[in-house]
Amino acid sequence: GSPRDLAGRKVVVSAGGTREAIDPVRYIGNRSSGLQGYALARTAVARGAEVTLVAANVALPDPAGAKVVRVESTAELREAVLEASAYADAVVMAAAVADFRPATRHDSKIKKTDGEPEPIRLTKNPDILAELGERRRRASAAERGPEVIVGFAAETDDVLANGQAKLARKGCDLLVVNQVGEGLAFGTPDNAATVLVAGGDAVEVPFGPKEDLADTVWDLVATRLA
Ligand code: C5P
Repeated sequence: GSPRDLAGRKVVVSAGGTREAIDPVRYIGNRSSGLQGYALARTAVARGAEVTLVAANVALPDPAGAKVVRVESTAELREAVLEASAYADAVVMAAAVADFRPATRHDSKIKKTDGEPEPIRLTKNPDILAELGERRRRASAAERGPEVIVGFAAETDDVLANGQAKLARKGCDLLVVNQVGEGLAFGTPDNAATVLVAGGDAVEVPFGPKEDLADTVWDLVATRLA
């Protein structure tokens, strides 16, 4: 795409991975580094966009030129993403969102006991991406939120069929399907992916820097906003 093709556009990117508190010192989390989301934020800034980066537990410096909102839990990520999305042209959900959280958060540290430990009961988290799609389907023109909604997914088999089904289920426009396994994706600077487009198209992004995948995503977003 042309270098400043996102000038005047507001975009929201979520990055990293959410943590769900068990007690004041412990949490359930995941291994997302935030590198792909940060690459998306950097490239969007470079292309002229006004970027809000919602970062969940990322140990990286703020990208220059982006507004960074730091969050920890899925509830916080949801609130920040929905708020920033209200006036955005596009939202890219690159964050690894915890599907479940402990049903109760203990107010004080769970003590070691002699007997068997208490099981940790889990409850479902809201699906933020699906909520954005649902909101867009239902709301009036003035409140529809982002024009372009992008999700990420890790699929190991039947990438095209499973990916297209997920894209439809979540009501998004693009779904970036990461190839997982053999040291790919998590914490590495490189990535390989297939970007699925609503309606059936698929764009292959060969193994390379996460910036390359980010630029392909913004190419597809810019085309849809034009
Ligand atoms: O369903 P699955 O977890 O594979 O979907 C991944 C996509 O959905 C990612 O874009 C992720 O950010 C988003 N997601 C979400 N809320 C959840 C779970 C996933 O927004 N609770």
